[in-house]
Amino acid sequence: MGRDKILCIDDEEMIVDALKFELVNHISPEILIETATSAEEALLIVNESLRRGDRFILVISDQRMPGMTGEVLLSRLDKIIPHSLKILLTGYTNIEAVQYAINNAGLFRYIQKPWEQEDLILTVKQAIDKYNTKRALDEKTNQIIKMNEELEDKIEERTIQLSEALKELEAFSFTVSHDLKSPLRSIDYYTKYILEDHQEELSEEAKEMLRSIRSTCESMFNLINKLLLYSMTAKALPELSSIDTNQLFEQTYSELMTSIENRDIEFVINGELPVVEADPVLLKQVINNILSNSIKFTRKKDKAVITVDCEEADNEYRFYVRDNGAGFDMQYASNLFGIFQRMHNQSEFEGSGIGLATVKKIIEKHGGKVSIDSVENEGTVVSFSLPIP
Ligand SMILES: Nc1ncnc2c1ncn2[C@@H]1O[C@H](COP(=O)(O)OP(=O)(O)OP(=O)(O)O)[C@@H](O)[C@H]1O
Ligand SMILES: [Mg+2]
Repeated sequence: MGRDKILCIDDEEMIVDALKFELVNHISPEILIETATSAEEALLIVNESLRRGDRFILVISDQRMPGMTGEVLLSRLDKIIPHSLKILLTGYTNIEAVQYAINNAGLFRYIQKPWEQEDLILTVKQAIDKYNTKRALDEKTNQIIKMNEELEDKIEERTIQLSEALKELEAFSFTVSHDLKSPLRSIDYYTKYILEDHQEELSEEAKEMLRSIRSTCESMFNLINKLLLYSMTAKALPELSSIDTNQLFEQTYSELMTSIENRDIEFVINGELPVVEADPVLLKQVINNILSNSIKFTRKKDKAVITVDCEEADNEYRFYVRDNGAGFDMQYASNLFGIFQRMHNQSEFEGSGIGLATVKKIIEKHGGKVSIDSVENEGTVVSFSLPIP
């Protein structure tokens, strides 16, 4: 365990004995008082004690000693036992020695000889208190550091477990979606075959049922394809290149509009959009999913307006896509960027709730963030950010 000690040094044996006597009578008996009559002896005692695991709370040294002076001894000891407090006993006010000890040994106090008994005891008690408080503080700090390290290890371990679980889940959803396709294709194929080759034998009602099966198969195909795309984007590592987002927005919008009829939509890009560093295929998917929502959810408006803005802030580009569509009440919206989360009925607005989840996955892979804000019957703003390299 080691013991707590105080070391007193004075070349006059009578004085160290007197010091020891006073200390023994006034401080805790658990603290051992060591004495030395020269600097060399003091160094030997300290080194020997440290080998045994003892600790020095305090060193009290006379200033004037033959050979090594008190202030030099204290500065030497400060390198060996930096935590112990040091007191210098000066025969007369030797400012230079005190100054030296303050600068080189972190001197705690100096006491003039002959000392007042009360003054000496009080100073020693203060030194012991200071040492103990510091030791307790150091212990607590070490405990906190240790706990922090343990916590970090735990977090790392859990993160590894979590990302492994996530990978397994992604692989699972990929396989399941992939494997679901072939039985679905068979159902669709046989239904088509019955409809075409056995027309005469079927009633109109039966034909209608078979057509309904085919249409359900198609919706399921769509859903599976979106799920596949989602799990593929989850696995994909972005391959960055420079992309003119102005062009990408324009082009994606035009492509989406080719399959849409009878709509009055004003599509506005405010200002020049920047060139960003991103994966072209994945970023196109992001813009496609956001714009397709804006087009879909403005369907019931006579005049739809979709605007795109971009601002530069905090080393990133922030894109905003606004529409004046159906919107929704934010109060009931939770985690729309999670898979299968929807705010609208299938009968009102079709969809599977995978689009925004894919957007989030892709943007986060690029080191950006996504958000959505909406007001029911007024419109929605979807925003995403991309870091500026
Ligand atoms: N521009 C928007 N206006 C109104 N609601 C929106 C808008 N964008 C998203 N939402 C709401 O968020 C939900 C999730 O959007 P998301 O794109 O993920 O799914 P979806 O469009 O329903 O289906 P999918 O994109 O998979 O075909 C939507 O169902 C809708 O309720
Ligand atoms: Mg969508």
